[in-house]
Amino acid sequence: MMHSIFWFRTRQWVLSRVLHLTEHKKQTLLAAPDAVLLLPALFRKRRISRILLVTTPGFVRRGTLTSLLDGCKKENISVTIFSEIAPDPQIESVEQGFRLYQQIQAQAILAIGGGSVLDAAKLIGARVCCPKKTVPAMRGLLKVRRKLPPLFAVPTTAGTGSEATAAAVITDCIDGKPYKYAVNDLCLIPDTAVLDPRLTISLPSSMTADTGMDALTHAMEAFLNLFASRSVQNASIEAVCENFHALPEVWRDGTHLAARQEMLHASYLAGFAFTNNFVGYVHAIAHAVGALYHIPHGRANAVLLPAVLREYGSCIAPKLAVLADALSLGGDTVSEKAERMIAAIEAMRDSFDIPSTLPHLSPNDYTEIARRALKEANPTYPVPQIWDSEKIFSVLRRVQS
Ligand SMILES: [Fe+2]
Repeated sequence: MMHSIFWFRTRQWVLSRVLHLTEHKKQTLLAAPDAVLLLPALFRKRRISRILLVTTPGFVRRGTLTSLLDGCKKENISVTIFSEIAPDPQIESVEQGFRLYQQIQAQAILAIGGGSVLDAAKLIGARVCCPKKTVPAMRGLLKVRRKLPPLFAVPTTAGTGSEATAAAVITDCIDGKPYKYAVNDLCLIPDTAVLDPRLTISLPSSMTADTGMDALTHAMEAFLNLFASRSVQNASIEAVCENFHALPEVWRDGTHLAARQEMLHASYLAGFAFTNNFVGYVHAIAHAVGALYHIPHGRANAVLLPAVLREYGSCIAPKLAVLADALSLGGDTVSEKAERMIAAIEAMRDSFDIPSTLPHLSPNDYTEIARRALKEANPTYPVPQIWDSEKIFSVLRRVQS
């Protein structure tokens, strides 16, 4: 074990150096109410006249995109809508989108939706630049390595941070079982991110809470991981503070535009943080239970986050104390502050009526969940403590109903 920990840490350190060098990849950011309406002029400026719009049927049906589509028409930009993206998209959706992109000879991809839509759009872009490489062959780290077509990402949830990240999660079927995995490559970071709070106001409160807790988990895990650069630490702390400030507000009143904007910003910062310093065991376990039991990603994270933090114990207390101080939670000692931080997360989660246990979780699946979680996290994620199956079982027992 000692030997493998040394090897894991060396690999993680080398990877962190590589990521620090790329931290400042230029991305255009448009953040304001109705910012999405600035896109037609931007397309024109970039001489883009044929676009594949990847979105969900709901956005098309509700007419949310009418003003944007009218703007594109005025600029003579042809927009073809692809709205076959279901939650937890499967590879077939990506392939359909890829074929349509080729058929219409599109020049760019505009993705408007939640994390599933943005991730599927990234993979459509990856297939465009690597037409001979399948999505499963892109699984893991730095397997795309080509320039994607211009990608404009407009999140309609404040959670995944996909508009800022180098990751795309896809659901595949392996040995007859649903399996979620990530494609990670810096070329997947969208050229342009548009944070328009008007597009998030119709999000139901439960989804607002789940996705917001996902953003909080991104910021927490990136901050707690080893090798966090100063900019990752600052972005994480700011994201945690904005999250604690704005999430209860938008849960109470979904139409609160300023709070919606703040949540989009928190999610964006958290996305920046974790794309530069990874997530950790909360996500690794959440991906496994999410695929096995069809639990929404943010919900699984919300349940697992305090359990994983408690399992880490004292090794993360100094960092939790920093966050507790940033949130002015009080406490005299480091361990007291750390406890207050975990209790604050639990209290916020409880206030959103999110349970503290995972429904349907069966001890019969512990081994499979641990296998998948360890396969995802080790050796890549620079987690505060490297775990084996026993530690994963212990977390699962904490969230067993
Ligand atoms: Fe996440």
